[in-house]
Amino acid sequence: MEEAGRALADPKAYADEARLHEALALLRRESPVQWVEAPDYTPFWAITKHADVLEIERNHEIFLNAPRPLLGTAEFDELNRQRAEQGIALRTLIHMDDPDHRVIRAIGADWFRPRAMRALEPRVKELAKRYVDRMVEFGSECDFAQQVAVHFPLYVILSLLGLPESDFDRMLKLTQELFGGDDDELQRGQSNEEKLQVLLDFFAYFQSLTDERRKHPTDDLASAIANARIDGEPLNDFDTASYYVIIATAGHDTTSATIAGGLQALIQHPDQRERLTKNPELMPLAVDEMIRWVTPVKEFMRTATRDYDLRGATIRKGDAVLLSYPSANRDEEVFDEPFRFDAGRDPNKHLAFGFGVHYCLGAALARIEVRAFFEELLPRLGSIEFAGPAESIATTFVGGLKRLPVRYSLA
Ligand code: HEM
Repeated sequence: MEEAGRALADPKAYADEARLHEALALLRRESPVQWVEAPDYTPFWAITKHADVLEIERNHEIFLNAPRPLLGTAEFDELNRQRAEQGIALRTLIHMDDPDHRVIRAIGADWFRPRAMRALEPRVKELAKRYVDRMVEFGSECDFAQQVAVHFPLYVILSLLGLPESDFDRMLKLTQELFGGDDDELQRGQSNEEKLQVLLDFFAYFQSLTDERRKHPTDDLASAIANARIDGEPLNDFDTASYYVIIATAGHDTTSATIAGGLQALIQHPDQRERLTKNPELMPLAVDEMIRWVTPVKEFMRTATRDYDLRGATIRKGDAVLLSYPSANRDEEVFDEPFRFDAGRDPNKHLAFGFGVHYCLGAALARIEVRAFFEELLPRLGSIEFAGPAESIATTFVGGLKRLPVRYSLA
């Protein structure tokens, strides 16, 4: 059981779906609230049942996001603690709790309301078409993960922020370096100091954006953030830059992982692809099934502010709990045949967007993006098959496929 728990702190386990899900199924069955002691990490409780993830997220006054909102090595946690002391730690929505969280979240919440998002739909559809057209330009083969899926959501979110197209490549590199987790290929063996440098680059970039939008306000999201007032005061430079960082990063890798993993699922399940192509009205359900299937956010953490009993285990005040979303989304007690990809799954109470006060701010946008992409792709797609082995990112945080070579015919 200890070994199964340690898989949750092993980036490589996430690059091997079968191994990961074997460990998670064992934990759900035998020890759903499991104490994990893994080399390099401060110990934590692994929470693997859907009902328990919900219970903890509901109790947001007992289980706080600060000071350890996500899994990092003990060394990384310590570096963050020191940075917090020096006032240079990243402080985004996921690092905050009420009352600050409520106030800061409200700044972006207006932007991300489903109704506001629907107004963006035509633009998102246009971008989806551009990327499917690009697949046609590639001929009959491409690495779908690297050449298509990575670009489309980044493009959407950066246009929403109002950044110029000439900066997109730079942002892509920065997000991958910051969020490539522990994947050697993406991190290129970065030390913690080098990671800090990546973060500082981000901050410098966004600082000039803030200055520009304060001088010349526009109607984009960056301007809303730069010119937001709390009790009559603007956000400080750090909180402003942190806001851009969370939007630019959270809004990108997650959705690209879903699109790549969604296409992989459709290739692996040709009956479901055919069903969806013949019944396009199933698309909203299929989109949520892709999101459940991929579950690109692997975990968030909370810290208990008092002792709490869960399934007979006592979580002590100060203990950290890791909410395993991939496990919750394969919970046999909630999902009928959880390991079956069912494009028409209904109901589908997945927790891929989390739950409660921190529920994903971009959920409506993510759904629009995934839907727009597959609504454009499927009617134009003839054949499609794998053209080489797919590979996943080794990360305990946000991940999915980093390579998906495909061969296809597309009109
Ligand atoms: C938070 C998943 C796309 C912005 C979260 C959380 C999850 C998540 C699990 C934490 C929820 C919790 O703690 O209960 C996803 C998935 C996505 C996606 C699976 C795509 C399929 C997006 C997009 C954006 C976005 C497109 C923005 C453009 C955010 C923000 C938060 C967040 C700002 C922090 C909210 C808070 O702490 O109050 N997301 N996300 N996400 N997400 Fe997403």
